[in-house]
Amino acid sequence: MSTPTARPPLRLAVLISGRGSNMLAIARSGAPVALVISDQPDAGGIPAARGLGIDTRIVPWQGAARRAEFEAALDQAIAESGAELVVLAGFMRILSADFAARYAGRMLNIHPSLLPKYRGLHTHQRVLEAKDAEHGASVHFVTAELDGGPLLLQSRVPVKADDTEATLSARVQATEYIIYPRVIGWIADGRLRWHKGQAWLDNRPLDRPVVEDFGEAAKS
Ligand code: GRF
Repeated sequence: MSTPTARPPLRLAVLISGRGSNMLAIARSGAPVALVISDQPDAGGIPAARGLGIDTRIVPWQGAARRAEFEAALDQAIAESGAELVVLAGFMRILSADFAARYAGRMLNIHPSLLPKYRGLHTHQRVLEAKDAEHGASVHFVTAELDGGPLLLQSRVPVKADDTEATLSARVQATEYIIYPRVIGWIADGRLRWHKGQAWLDNRPLDRPVVEDFGEAAKS
């Protein structure tokens, strides 16, 4: 698809650790995925990516003592792929502050909560335990602060009285497949950019995320 101001397509490197359903949603949205990288040799997303004809690379995690080598290997794979945007999609490794700084404004993450609530793991379980009325997912630029970079777009879904971790996570994930490709599209279209250490959307500083309410439409 070309637009009147034909920009070269934005090439992506997508980093995964598991089944890669977000990666697949991004690829199926038409975004040009140059490379899928996994730190886990047996990640389900790797054969799935190959099935779509996408190049894949395993960069094995060999422990925190070898983080610098791991990140150098990631740098090399990303550079060789020609990717301009790094997309973390269920990538379960914490990256160093140096790595985050190198990719400032060029690296996105999706987190399954309404950040800043529930950074870290087990978000769906924590939402249920807290009896929250709503939950969601957040796409953000990655900074050195874990799950703490500037928020871009959030999906909001209701928590239902009979929800389990499985039904709630399925409802949130269905929205992830919509909001992650949308943010990538904003960047590809030149609407969203990183300028002076913050996110700008349509030439305005994005001080708070755009929130999309999925309401009752978000079925589990
Ligand atoms: C998603 O829920 C995402 O929000 C979180 O990890 C999960 C990855 O799932 N960061 P998948 O590998 O994309 O299927």
